[in-house]
Amino acid sequence: MKAAANLNGGSGDARFQQIVHRLLGDLFKAIDDLDITPDEVRAGVNYLNKLGQDGEAALLAAGLGLGLGLGLGLEKYLDIRMDAADKAVGLEGGTPRTIEGPLYVAGAPLRESVSRIDLNADADAGPLVIHGTVTGLDGKPLAGAVVECWHANSKGFYSHFDPTGAQDDFNLRGAVRTGADGKYEFRTLMPVGYGCPPQGSTQRLLDGLGRHGNRPAHVHFFVTSGDHRKLTTQFNIEGDPLIWDDFAYATREELIPSVTEKTGGAALGLKADAYKDIEFNLTLTPLVQGKDNQIVHRPRASATA
Ligand SMILES: [Fe+2]
Repeated sequence: MKAAANLNGGSGDARFQQIVHRLLGDLFKAIDDLDITPDEVRAGVNYLNKLGQDGEAALLAAGLGLGLGLGLGLEKYLDIRMDAADKAVGLEGGTPRTIEGPLYVAGAPLRESVSRIDLNADADAGPLVIHGTVTGLDGKPLAGAVVECWHANSKGFYSHFDPTGAQDDFNLRGAVRTGADGKYEFRTLMPVGYGCPPQGSTQRLLDGLGRHGNRPAHVHFFVTSGDHRKLTTQFNIEGDPLIWDDFAYATREELIPSVTEKTGGAALGLKADAYKDIEFNLTLTPLVQGKDNQIVHRPRASATA
């Protein structure tokens, strides 16, 4: 096994060798302990090929984990480790992080304070205004913060990844920069929950585990501001029956803001006068020893608006 990972081989990346060596060791141990057959190993190898062909490895990373009993996906587990690292350095407060998921697209047009992001008509979705104030831990508004959001349409599909082709690249995706008052606002449409592609590799694995592949309705956020850490979070739409049965385990109690009914949407340019309103304030945390230690590097889609 040391040979397979070229451990102490004098070339290659030592950290990479260490990780491969450990993962192979754990895999071999599982094969021995569970007497995993050659057919089962081949089914697993074949599955990885199919998973890559489907482009679903990042989706599986959100949902695959110790779901049997512990209720924990791999991506959520990384969040829990970052929460623990924050606690260890005495960093508490701020809007809680939760998983990014695989469906962000970089490049949404940046607007000042307010952006209307429902570019395509969606007959089944009612108007929604999402707004709030970005502050630091001291509660003071942060000017120049950039708030990005992205969410699904009434079919549970995200633009850029919509198999029906019904959406422009940046439909239901936006970016705004806060002014001196720290306020941001998105004028959009109410999303519904997301379901894993029914014929995809992620759902196939979940079927084998007897699990569903659905998420409650939610809205994703990235929030950046020069001298604070980048926040990656989401909120759930209050009242969704899957809030505590999310296949990706992303729900947190602090991330379920109230939905209120309002009128006056016509003056805001919304498709109807009655609309839903969600206030979601965002509190950023300071750099740790001058660094943003919660930046995660990963391949992300991008497009040009
Ligand atoms: Fe999502």
